[in-house]
Amino acid sequence: MRSRRWSAVAAGLGLVLLASACGDGGGDGGSGGQIEVFSWWTGGGEEAGLNALIERYEEENEGVEFVNAAVAGGSGTNAQAVLEGRLQSQDPPDSFQGHAGAELQDYIEAGYLQPLDEFFDEQGLGAAYPDQLVEQISYEGSVYSVPVNIHRSNVMWFSPSVLEEAGVDGPPETLDELLEALEAVESETDAIPMVVGAQWTVDHLLESVLLGSLGTDAYNALWEPGASWDTPEVAGALETFDTILSYTQEESAAEDWQEASRRVSDGEAAFNIMGDWAAGYFDEVGALPGEDYDWAASPGTDGTYMWLSDSFTLPVGAPNEENTYSWLELVASKEGQDLFNPLKGSIPARSDADPARYADNPYLDSALAEWQAGPELAGSFWHGVTVGNRWKNDIDTAVGLYLGNGDLDALNEALHEAAQTE
Ligand code: GAL
Repeated sequence: MRSRRWSAVAAGLGLVLLASACGDGGGDGGSGGQIEVFSWWTGGGEEAGLNALIERYEEENEGVEFVNAAVAGGSGTNAQAVLEGRLQSQDPPDSFQGHAGAELQDYIEAGYLQPLDEFFDEQGLGAAYPDQLVEQISYEGSVYSVPVNIHRSNVMWFSPSVLEEAGVDGPPETLDELLEALEAVESETDAIPMVVGAQWTVDHLLESVLLGSLGTDAYNALWEPGASWDTPEVAGALETFDTILSYTQEESAAEDWQEASRRVSDGEAAFNIMGDWAAGYFDEVGALPGEDYDWAASPGTDGTYMWLSDSFTLPVGAPNEENTYSWLELVASKEGQDLFNPLKGSIPARSDADPARYADNPYLDSALAEWQAGPELAGSFWHGVTVGNRWKNDIDTAVGLYLGNGDLDALNEALHEAAQTE
């Protein structure tokens, strides 16, 4: 790890080098102390991935106390609010998880993050990550975070046994086929046709329906500031969304995404549209691919990877910078990514990861192959790629109102408004 390697160099060459070693990050210049890492990975698969990294960090950084400051709540709904409060009151953790893309830009523009250019150069990271990903973590020519993975948002998980009972012959490929399948499940079985969890899982569903209905280019164009959502195409997509929601149970803050995934693998529900962190959950609970659950691209989105990426940062004023650099080094490394991602249900952000590490999990095996083949790309809005927090929260508020009053026109109008005020 960086701190140890550099102290060894300094021991050989003198203290001048130790001083320059601390040059780009300050730091406490030695081992020991603490590191506080902030995320929302507290359960089902996500925690297992984080714990594997923590264990490795502790092995490699003896004497550093690891403080896992994870705040529960899928997709960071609670964690992001806690984090914002801490950043505003200048009480940052040593590193926090943020999504590559517009969400990260918000943190950078607020002045919360330190640039990591020197670190990237030393670690050769510019070449290790795809260029498009580096763009998403850059601002005015500097890089600001260290991506650990690529997740896919547009995955439809389904229960093979419920589909069979409903007489549905294989996963629906289009949104029209999905609606037919939902109807068949409703009339032929006792299962929930499309399961949702807390409200954010409805936002998550919305992005896949928009992508499936509009197509990749038109979906991507929605996120240009000032884009028109006041179109027959968006209205049509929202009608489909509304119909799909009529086949869900009521969303509930008490049920997060793990519970929705569980209902699929236990055969209580037919379908769930959720990111591939669900693959980590299924593994952890021992659900079997092809038997207890199966997957396909969410209807209408085959060939497109709606991506998002978890990345770690060095906040301004982080109390233990040198320990943070050691953490970022682990997170950036091939070894760290190949340790974390098979448990997390994601594929590595680095381009040189070892495919054999993913081959045991049929989902991850196929996801990695698809990613490496160069799919079309769409950015997840809910998970921070295409929009920052203001726009995202406006959409969430509009979705919440619509869930209460069912007013689809008002939803469309609010979504249009949200796009105008960037
Ligand atoms: C996403 C995050 C994933 C996963 C998911 C569910 O926003 O990028 O790593 O944690 O939320 O909690």
